Amino acid sequence: SILVLDFGSQYNQLITRRIRDFGIYSELLPNMITADEIKARHPKGIIFSGGPNSVYDDGALRVDPEIFKLGLPILGICYGMQLMTYSLPGGKVESADNREYGKANITVTSDAATLFKDTPQEQSVWMSHGDLVTQAPDGFDVVATSKNCPIAAIQNVDKKMYGIQFHAEVRNTDYGSEILKHFAFDVCQAEANWSMDDFIDMQIEKIREEVGDKKVLLGLSGGVDSSVVGVLLHKAIGTQLTSIFVDHGLLRKGEADQVMASLEGKFGLNIIKVDAKDRFMSKLAGVSDPERKRKIIGNEFIQVFDEEATKLNGMEFLAQGTLYTDVIESGTSTAQTIKSHHNVGGLPEDMQFKLIEPLRTLFKDEARELGEKLGMPSDLVWRQPFPGPGLGIRVIGEITEDKLEIVRDSDYILRDEIKKAGLDREIWQYFTVLPGIKSVGVMGDGRTYDYTVGIRAVTSIDGMTADFARIPWEVLQKISVRIVNEVAHVNRIVYDVTSKPPSTIEWE
Ligand code: XMP
Repeated sequence: SILVLDFGSQYNQLITRRIRDFGIYSELLPNMITADEIKARHPKGIIFSGGPNSVYDDGALRVDPEIFKLGLPILGICYGMQLMTYSLPGGKVESADNREYGKANITVTSDAATLFKDTPQEQSVWMSHGDLVTQAPDGFDVVATSKNCPIAAIQNVDKKMYGIQFHAEVRNTDYGSEILKHFAFDVCQAEANWSMDDFIDMQIEKIREEVGDKKVLLGLSGGVDSSVVGVLLHKAIGTQLTSIFVDHGLLRKGEADQVMASLEGKFGLNIIKVDAKDRFMSKLAGVSDPERKRKIIGNEFIQVFDEEATKLNGMEFLAQGTLYTDVIESGTSTAQTIKSHHNVGGLPEDMQFKLIEPLRTLFKDEARELGEKLGMPSDLVWRQPFPGPGLGIRVIGEITEDKLEIVRDSDYILRDEIKKAGLDREIWQYFTVLPGIKSVGVMGDGRTYDYTVGIRAVTSIDGMTADFARIPWEVLQKISVRIVNEVAHVNRIVYDVTSKPPSTIEWE
């Protein structure tokens, strides 16, 4: 394995993910892990992640200095490189005049630059830093430079220590993947022998160890993530798992029945279905602020849970399908909150369960791969992501039964046509929203004054960034005609052509 030490960067899990993509196990560990603990894990190498600190800050995150004496390959990325430089004799870190953020061009200055083997001399990378290394530690060579960052990459081949000032793990670094590969395979000599099957075995073992003979409650939302967690937990602990499927009335058309048929019917999960539609609707009445809606839905969800759990007796754990992207977007200690995600932000502080989140380190496509490995049917695994607050955040502003019905029916038509056009796998997410605008139209011979429905369809790899999908005009036209004809009170369709950023995927 290759271990990644966490110094608080937004991108830290992305590093482990890239390494796992190479077929090498990787996990993120706290920065203060000791050299002995690292040794006990027998890794092939260590990566220091980036982070928001300056090495000179009070409370700046450090490492156990013994780690440098383990003889293991180390790659420092951004803050990781600065920390390495600061910790080793001869190295010097200084604050830069200007913060550098965004794309930059570097020049590889040495033919012997191990990590840059077979990549162009000039290449584009993603920089995000305040401080700079101004002097490499003793025994290190400078192997790449850029205009604002004269020491952009360093190496000490004998000691197998490397540093890069840019983020190799993000896609905006053109040869990032190659650079990480050179570190993993050439320097660490790791072998590509890890797969999702190993992840399943590891998780099952971990879950069994953690849970013992206690009981676990799972919140099934109907989406891919919680369904995968359900099947994984069922495999690990069988009847110790009880699932609660809260129908909050904000699900898509036909969704509740489908989930029950598949997970209860096929996989044998023990599921309690709670019809809580009225409760949610009355709590949401008159509320139009998106963050309040999210919080209300999240809290109500947990309350329904609590009540059911009390009835059940003796449930000690609560399992959730939280993915890495949910954790990041809801704000970790370092990342800013963009939207409070249902399964993280809505939790009350006095929650009486211990949490189990087996997908917490995974990205969506990894969760899907996991589902497939668990033998789940592809229509369940390839179901597009669906947010916890459901259609509640697709009716913009106040939620009413009538508006929900418009979204539900138009969404159903959209899904049907996308599937018929064979686009359902390549488009990451596609749905309709009701912005609540009314406009004038003409139908038959009469004037109408009715709702506008927005279509949102995006391509994405992990939901963190997205581009609007280029749906062919003919397909859009079919969708538009059908929605206006088949859904009452709709007389206009618009297509959302913004990417994320600057927009988000959902409208609220
Ligand atoms: P945004 O709108 O933030 O969405 O670009 C990114 C991805 O996350 C989904 N999403 C959620 N998923 N709970 C979830 O489980 C939530 O509260 C939530 N809000 C957004 C969204 O559908 C997209 O796939």
